[in-house]
Amino acid sequence: MTLAGKIALVTGGSRGIGRAVCLRLASMGADVGINYVSRPGAAEETLAVIEAAGGAAFISQFDVADATAVAAAVKAITADRGSVDILVNNAGITRDGLMARMRDDDWDKVLDTNLKGAFLCSKAVMRGMMKKRWGRIINMTSVIGFLGNAGQVNYGAAKAGLVGLTKSMARELAARNVTVNCVAPGYIVTDMTSGLPGEIQEAIKLQIPLGTLGQPEDVAAAVAFLASADCNYMTGQTLHVNGGMYMGN
Ligand SMILES: NC(=O)c1ccc[n+]([C@@H]2O[C@H](COP(=O)([O-])OP(=O)(O)OC[C@H]3O[C@@H](n4cnc5c(N)ncnc54)[C@H](OP(=O)(O)O)[C@@H]3O)[C@@H](O)[C@H]2O)c1
Repeated sequence: MTLAGKIALVTGGSRGIGRAVCLRLASMGADVGINYVSRPGAAEETLAVIEAAGGAAFISQFDVADATAVAAAVKAITADRGSVDILVNNAGITRDGLMARMRDDDWDKVLDTNLKGAFLCSKAVMRGMMKKRWGRIINMTSVIGFLGNAGQVNYGAAKAGLVGLTKSMARELAARNVTVNCVAPGYIVTDMTSGLPGEIQEAIKLQIPLGTLGQPEDVAAAVAFLASADCNYMTGQTLHVNGGMYMGN
């Protein structure tokens, strides 16, 4: 599964799942854009790991929810390296709380980053993909978009929304050979989940047939498949990477 000659952009590529995706795509030969918003150190570490392994990558700082910043960043990448062939809309945040007490701002922040960010980034790269008649857009949704979760109405709505966005985009872009798919991780060991209290983590494990939380590399493997030429004939789909905790579609 080679990605030699392809330019990839991974939003939120500096840490967690995004970092594993960057490493994996770079190991397949892609030139990988590592996006982050606020922590340059993590992005620099990811870049160093890729370069030490002989891969090619670059850092691109922008807020996925800021339309002007997204457009400017994609323009700069296109001028410096070429148009983006593979976009992984991975940047995501949580602002958890029961709905009765959720602040409007917690709703807006989560929807803006997780859902609008994917819309803005996809819009910024799609013209180049359509021109080349080849492109891959992969949206990072979540098992929570399928199961729901008390305390996460904002996150669940954003992640379910990504599935709808993916299906409509897949239909719009299919004629130009641009595929659009989702990966839906279950509980994965990253900064996002490390704050969960031990007893909650134990309760979560009981709901996972494979018995453990997943690793970022488990998710990166699914992204790698969707980005590759082995996946020419799949679009509008969701790959679930969750240890069996949700088996529907
Ligand atoms: N971990 C899980 O169990 C799990 C399960 C299902 C789905 N997911 C989804 O997988 C994705 C990655 O999760 P993770 O656990 O790897 O998260 P993480 O460790 O918290 O990393 C989040 C990444 O997103 C970046 N980011 C946040 N807001 C951004 C913005 N406005 N613009 C650009 N970048 C932004 C962060 O950059 P900075 O460091 O600069 O802030 C960081 O690189 C998310 O979409 C998440 O919802 C995770």
